Amino acid sequence: MRFSTPFLMVCMAAVVAIIVLMLQTVNQKSSGPPTIIINDNSNKDFSLPFNQQRRYVVGAQAFQPRGIVQSHNESYNYKEVLTKLNADHAAMDEPRLIEIIRNHFIVPPSKESYNLKNPDKLEYSNGQTPFIDSRLNYMEGGFYVECGALNGEQGSNTLFFEKVRKWNGLLVEADPSNHEVMMTKHRKAFTMHACLNPKPYPAVMTFNKAFNRGRVVHDQEAKNWIEKQNIKSDPVQVQCLPLYSILLALNQTTVDFFSLDVEGDELNVLKTIPFDKVNIKMLTVEYVHDTRRYSDLQTFMESKGYETLLRMQRDNGSVNDIIFRKKNLAH
Ligand SMILES: *[C@@H]1O[C@H](CO)[C@@H](O)[C@H](O)[C@H]1NC(C)=O
Ligand SMILES: *[C@@H]1O[C@H](CO)[C@@H](O)[C@H](O)[C@H]1NC(C)=O
Ligand SMILES: *[C@@H]1O[C@H](CO)[C@@H](O)[C@H](O)[C@H]1NC(C)=O
Repeated sequence: MRFSTPFLMVCMAAVVAIIVLMLQTVNQKSSGPPTIIINDNSNKDFSLPFNQQRRYVVGAQAFQPRGIVQSHNESYNYKEVLTKLNADHAAMDEPRLIEIIRNHFIVPPSKESYNLKNPDKLEYSNGQTPFIDSRLNYMEGGFYVECGALNGEQGSNTLFFEKVRKWNGLLVEADPSNHEVMMTKHRKAFTMHACLNPKPYPAVMTFNKAFNRGRVVHDQEAKNWIEKQNIKSDPVQVQCLPLYSILLALNQTTVDFFSLDVEGDELNVLKTIPFDKVNIKMLTVEYVHDTRRYSDLQTFMESKGYETLLRMQRDNGSVNDIIFRKKNLAH
């Protein structure tokens, strides 16, 4: 069979075009998510396109947060049972563990009025909240989880959703000093003193207190990081729990927004989550403290069916977050 020269030339052009297209796709893939970097220390916020009017139309409002049925049995020595569950590396859905979390760790939302340092503010985060809000179509009545919650106000990624959008939620804080201050704020959210375990079982771990840079010291990487950051040693023992166990204890496996900031163990914590059993719609994940690059987080989350919407970074180090959203999320 013989082909004419023009025909062969068309074929070659088509092959070249396909190769160019493939290369472009690869390039797009490796160029990462859209990124906002603010590289001065001004108060400039991450101005993102969202509907200001819709955003503030509701204003702060009181709502009746949901409660939880708890039972306290004085003759049940839950500490002894928990010690055994820790030693046995109990499964995340172990019924005794779930019950102990529900009855002894979770504190129901406060019924008292807010006691905030900045009571008139609506937005406390470093820019993450307006973006998340707009990408969830300003939904009301959702459920959030924030960990670490710090003092429940400063830099809070979730107070907006509670005050303005009437969401229920859960605040987890491992540092006992931060947790104590958090309790004085009277958040209308479930609260908890615990750390999220980077491993898929309950365990008591050493937590190094350092205000907003505290972290679980569970491996050499964590030790090296603390030393390199010149953070002074201030260890406490804290009960760590898998996120999945906590969600089961709350009977809340749908989470509209999960804010994860645990100073370096973000990927480890995410790896404990059975994504086929929980429905987490959006996440903001801090990445800078991770010695692995943010692309590891991105690769992992994309393998779980998420798309990377945005990377936010402030040059002075106060913001380093990637925002993920479940693919094909409908509102
Ligand atoms: C970084 O800059 C922002 C905006 O001025 C400021 O609010 C924040 O406190 C700064 N953080 C640090 C760690 O300097
Ligand atoms: C309380 O705990 C004790 C000891 O585990 C148990 O024997 C008892 O049945 C429990 N009581 C209730 C009301 O659950
Ligand atoms: C848990 O939630 C489901 C669905 O929201 C509900 O049907 C069920 O009654 C709840 N169970 C408990 C123990 O609250």
